[in-house]
Amino acid sequence: MKSYVTATAALFCIAAPAFAADTASGDPAAGEKAFKQCKSCHMVQDADGNAIVKGGKTGPNLFGVVGRTAGTEDFKYSKDMVAAGEGGLAWDEASFVTYVQDPTAYLREVTGNDKARSKMTFKARKEEDAVNIWAYLASVGPES
Ligand code: HEC
Repeated sequence: MKSYVTATAALFCIAAPAFAADTASGDPAAGEKAFKQCKSCHMVQDADGNAIVKGGKTGPNLFGVVGRTAGTEDFKYSKDMVAAGEGGLAWDEASFVTYVQDPTAYLREVTGNDKARSKMTFKARKEEDAVNIWAYLASVGPES
């Protein structure tokens, strides 16, 4: 009986991600708070110029980042970020969560260039924060 329970639990763990929401599995309210880590460099501002979150200009506007091809906002990106976008990188939850925890390592991985370097020098320390921030940005994005 015990092995039956274990096997069922293991199966559930494997199957669980398939039930997650299409674009976001995190908690938008927690993400709004966690976005404090990002706003010194990033604003969230809609196409009409209304600030959803007032923030810095060191990084690109994160409004509409869900599904956006990497490196395509009106911003002076690193050439490696532009290369990643040209190579087909469009932000989804998985790529976003991995990127924000180590931007340079992620760009090296997706471009296959071990000298690639992201201009984003910050690393989110907690995966949970990244997941929640993604959910927050999805909730305030143009498609919500
Ligand atoms: C110290 C400033 C700084 C902080 C803090 C920062 N970023 Fe960035 N971010 C940047 C810069 C600069 C870039 C452009 C990177 C490049 O061109 O290589 C960037 C790029 C990005 C991109 C790619 C966007 C695009 O248009 O392709 C995402 C996504 C992102 N940051 C998310 C975050 C999140 C989420 C946080 C908070 C957890 C955060 N950043 C915190 C500076 C920062």
